[in-house]
Amino acid sequence: MSAAVEVRDLRRAYGSVRAVDGLSFSAPAGAVTAVLGRNGAGKTTTVEICAGLRPRDGGSVAVLDQEPWRNPVLRPRVGVMPQAAGSGAAGVYPAARVREVLTLFASFAAHPLDADALLDRLDLTRLARTPWRRLSGGEQQRLSLALAVVGRPELVFLDEPTAGLDVAAKHATWSLIEDLRTAGVSVLLTTHAMDEAERLADHVVVVAAGRAVAAGSPGELTRHDAGTVRFSAVPSLAVDDLAARVGGRVRESSPGEYVVEGAPDAHQALAAITAWCAERGVLPDQLSTGRRTLEDVFLGLTGESGT
Ligand SMILES: Nc1ncnc2c1ncn2[C@@H]1O[C@H](COP(=O)(O)OP(=O)(O)O)[C@@H](O)[C@H]1O
Ligand SMILES: [Mg+2]
Repeated sequence: MSAAVEVRDLRRAYGSVRAVDGLSFSAPAGAVTAVLGRNGAGKTTTVEICAGLRPRDGGSVAVLDQEPWRNPVLRPRVGVMPQAAGSGAAGVYPAARVREVLTLFASFAAHPLDADALLDRLDLTRLARTPWRRLSGGEQQRLSLALAVVGRPELVFLDEPTAGLDVAAKHATWSLIEDLRTAGVSVLLTTHAMDEAERLADHVVVVAAGRAVAAGSPGELTRHDAGTVRFSAVPSLAVDDLAARVGGRVRESSPGEYVVEGAPDAHQALAAITAWCAERGVLPDQLSTGRRTLEDVFLGLTGESGT
């Protein structure tokens, strides 16, 4: 098995809303895959279909080489953390206490994690006897994460695991996800936070309007712009000549402001620019290199601004 999750041409509509519209991607086994997209992109629908919680209209889905819909074989092998529907979310019996429900979930598994250690790790120990309905949204979310992983599943689906968490809880969640990966667990998480995808993911699938618009490692997605260099100098330099020297494109974005793009390597571009300027007695000023961030790539791909 090379992919933990393999999705081909997945489709799912709600009435006239095509929530997932020809989505294809794979999530490699033993890695963290982030499905990155804005609200309404179709992430939750996709996760619910992959987790066997929702049927699809079309396309194929293989989860650990199995059909996910109505397949009890997958239940002990897969952990699911649904998207938080706000405080008071359904899914757990409202009167169940934190430790009770976690040990109950652990009892379903052949080799569960230690429930108390997990409570401690997610800062839930002091809430061990608190009923679910009295937990805050963030506390419910941390318990929901604990429930997803306590059975030592081979594959974990985490739908926006850190949305709305405070900084400490977010870092505890990230660290737990990093340990899952170290333990060889396959993780498929959704997020709209670029920093989360950049930090955690081995593989990122950018989704917009129910389709994958790009996929690759964070490095691959940001690499092709690694050679962008900006500098200031006297106006009207011979940009075509400089372009030939650096092996990229050069434009004067405003008088005396130059942007060098598409150079194969930022370091070589810097060296070529300074040498070329020195030959002409020109002093380049405010030289800066900029690798695009995942956020730039994301906004460029989805054609939308700010989150
Ligand atoms: N149960 C539902 N009934 C009707 N429309 C839905 C339902 N669930 C999601 N949608 C719509 O489907 C689209 C994708 O939603 P969703 O999968 O939740 O995306 P995301 O998780 O990326 O925010 C949105 O336009 C949303 O409004
Ligand atoms: Mg969602």
